[in-house]
Amino acid sequence: MLIDQRGVATSATEPQALAALETALTAFQTYRGDPLAPLDEAAATDPGWAGARVAKALILMTFFERRFAREAGEALAAARPLLDAATTRDRALWHAADLLMRGEWDAGTAALDRVLVDHPRDVLALQAAHLMDFYRGDALNLRNRVARVMPHWSAAVPGYAYVLGMHAFGLEECNQYPEAEAAGRRALDLAADDSWAIHAVTHVMEMQGRIDEGIAWLEARRAAWAAPGNGFAFHNAWHLALFHLDRADHAAAIALFDEWLAGAGGMALSRVDATALLWRLMLEGADPGTRAAAMADAWEADLDAEAGFYAFNDFHAALAFTQAGRTQALARLMAQVERAAGRQDANGEMERRVGLGACRAAIAFGEGRPQDAVAQLAAIRDGASRFGGSHAQRDLLTLTLVEAATRAGQPALAAHYIAERLALRPGNRWGLRLLARARQFGESAARRAATSESLALS
Ligand SMILES: [Fe+2]
Repeated sequence: MLIDQRGVATSATEPQALAALETALTAFQTYRGDPLAPLDEAAATDPGWAGARVAKALILMTFFERRFAREAGEALAAARPLLDAATTRDRALWHAADLLMRGEWDAGTAALDRVLVDHPRDVLALQAAHLMDFYRGDALNLRNRVARVMPHWSAAVPGYAYVLGMHAFGLEECNQYPEAEAAGRRALDLAADDSWAIHAVTHVMEMQGRIDEGIAWLEARRAAWAAPGNGFAFHNAWHLALFHLDRADHAAAIALFDEWLAGAGGMALSRVDATALLWRLMLEGADPGTRAAAMADAWEADLDAEAGFYAFNDFHAALAFTQAGRTQALARLMAQVERAAGRQDANGEMERRVGLGACRAAIAFGEGRPQDAVAQLAAIRDGASRFGGSHAQRDLLTLTLVEAATRAGQPALAAHYIAERLALRPGNRWGLRLLARARQFGESAARRAATSESLALS
C-alpha cells in the first residue's frame, strides 16, 4: 500500500503509478495540463490498481458532457473487476462516480462527501464534489463542503492553496465577499498560479462592481491565468470581457472574445461563456458580426449528441440558436429538452424547474415576443440557481429580463430588477445605462400612446 502526498492511503503497488496520479492531480488542481494522460499511464504501469481508473472517471465527469460521461462509464467498467483488491475509499469513489455517470448527480455528490468524512485530504473527491456543487448550483456546499475538510489542511499539506481557492469561491457564491477575497488572496500568496483563486477574487470584484480594479487584477495576473496549457483561461478571459462590457468598451470585449472564446467550439464549458458574451453584446446593442453564426455552428455540431444532458448548457445553446436565427436547430433542441424534462433524474428536475422556461424565454425574445420572455424569465429567475453556474453567469437571465421588459414597454418592471444591481453596486455604469434605456423606451412608448389617443379623439 502506497501513501499519497497528502497522507491518503492508496492501493497502488507501483511508485511510478502513484507519481503519475500526483501529476494528474496537480493538473486537475491547477487547471493546467492534461490530467487524463497520466492516469492512463498509471493504469498501464499498475494494471491491478482500480484507483487510477476511478480517478479518470471522476475527472471526466467534471467536464460535464454526455460524451465524457460515456468515457467515464468505460473507465468504471475497466475498474470494476479490480475493486476486490481496492481500498474501501476506491470502492466508495467508484460508487460515487457510477452514480454521477448515471445522471444521479445529487446522490453521487453526497457519496463523494461520505468519502471526505474519512479522507478529508482526498483532493480528488473534494474537487470533483466542488465542481458538482457548481454544476448543481449548490452555493452552500461550494462553501461548506470545503469548510468541513478545512481543519485537516494547513500550509504544511501540499496543495493547500488550491483548497483555499475553492473555499474562496464558495464564500463568494454565498455573498461573503470580504471573507472570499481574504481566502483568495491567501491562496495566491501560497500559490500564485491558482487560477481558481484568481477567479474567486475576480467574482468578488464583479459582484461589488469594482470594475476598474477587476481589470487591473486580471491584467496583473495574466501570466498565471493565461499560462500555456491552462484549460480555465477562457473563463477568466470571459470575466475580463465582462468588466470591459460594464464600461461599454465593446471593442475590448470583442477582442477578448476573438482571442480566447472564438475557438471555443470544442467544449460546452467554453461555448457557454462564448455564447453568453455574444448575447450580452447583443443586449448592449453591439453587433458581433459573423461570430454568432459560428457559435451556433459549434452548438449545432454537438446538438444530437449533447442536448438534454445538462439544462444550463441547453439554455446557452438556445441563446446561440436564437441569436443566429436557427429555427430548425431550436426545434431540435427543444424536442430533446422536453424529453429530458420527462426523465426522473437530476437534469430532468433542472429542466422542469429552470431549463424549459429559460429556453422558451430565449425563443420568445428572438421571435419578438418580449412580454412572453418576461413572463417566462420572471417565473424561473428566482430559482434559477437550480440549474447551476455562478451568480455572474446567471446574471444573464436578469439582463435578458430587463431588456425584454424594456422592449415590452414595461419600464417600471425593468427598473424593478435593475434596482437589485444598483443596490449591490451603487453607481454601476451598466446598471445606470440599463435604467436610462428602460426610461427612454418607456417615455417613447407613452408618447406613442398619447399621440394615437389624440388622433383617435380628433
Ligand atoms: Fe466565473
